[in-house]
Amino acid sequence: MLICPLCNEALVVADKVVNCSNNHSFDRAKQGYLNLLPVQHKNSRAPGDNLEMVIARRDFLAAGHYAPLALRFAELASQQHPNNWLDVGCGEGFYTHQLAMASPNTVGYALDISRDAIKQACKFNKNIQWLVASMARIPLANQSCNLIATIFSPFNWQEALRVVSQQGGILRLGPTNQHLIELREKLYDEVRPYQDDKHLQQVPNELQLVFTDYLTFSLTLNNEQDRKNLLAMTPHGWRASAEKRKQVIEHPLKVTVAVRYDYFKLI
Ligand SMILES: C[S@@+](CC[C@H](N)C(=O)[O-])C[C@H]1O[C@@H](n2cnc3c(N)ncnc32)[C@H](O)[C@@H]1O
Ligand SMILES: [Zn+2]
Repeated sequence: MLICPLCNEALVVADKVVNCSNNHSFDRAKQGYLNLLPVQHKNSRAPGDNLEMVIARRDFLAAGHYAPLALRFAELASQQHPNNWLDVGCGEGFYTHQLAMASPNTVGYALDISRDAIKQACKFNKNIQWLVASMARIPLANQSCNLIATIFSPFNWQEALRVVSQQGGILRLGPTNQHLIELREKLYDEVRPYQDDKHLQQVPNELQLVFTDYLTFSLTLNNEQDRKNLLAMTPHGWRASAEKRKQVIEHPLKVTVAVRYDYFKLI
């Protein structure tokens, strides 16, 4: 099911190495992941989220603040009866692990372009095949997955369309316009409204929206480290002024978590 990122031929998987029939070979890292991102497909030396962002997100998620989001995602995914599935832009694997737990006896792949994120992800679950790879060239065969997951990530719809199987679907988790609204109000002089169905315009015609589900709850962050982590893992944190960031870090924060789940199927 894995394909060579250089020539698209099938990869034969052995313990320490994977090869294609054209003698392209990729080593398995000691942590267990495969690096299927050839240097010529990288736009920078270390693409994707950096270690600081990865650690902030890992710690924030490990504290359980977004656990309901992951549980609902895993539940909705398992209702689609996945057998071969893929998480695209999986980060350090918090949601991926929940998905795997809720759908036992399935074959799970998860990719991210950030090696730092994938190294962390390997610690979560040894049964998932973690991949350093780009979502623009998913190293999986055509129509090989009956569920594709995308969570708070950019997404390449055309490439996902190539990989999803005939009866398969795509489950997306993204923010709604109320997500972290109190934080955005504290960080920006003017909060720009966020149109949370904008992604629907990018969905290829071959896919139809089957359902949308919403989850909203209030979160109180009394711990300073949690507030620092939240700032480090959201783009809002990096865009704000030092003064506004300081204000957020120094005071307990009550924020709305508001997301939507969209499930698409091939027509
Ligand atoms: C906001 S994070 C979300 C991570 C995880 N899904 C979560 O919700 O915790 C977005 C992730 O997309 C990854 N990413 C960005 N561009 C990518 C690409 N072209 N291919 C694969 N992953 C990419 C980043 O490295 C980062 O880990
Ligand atoms: Zn090859």
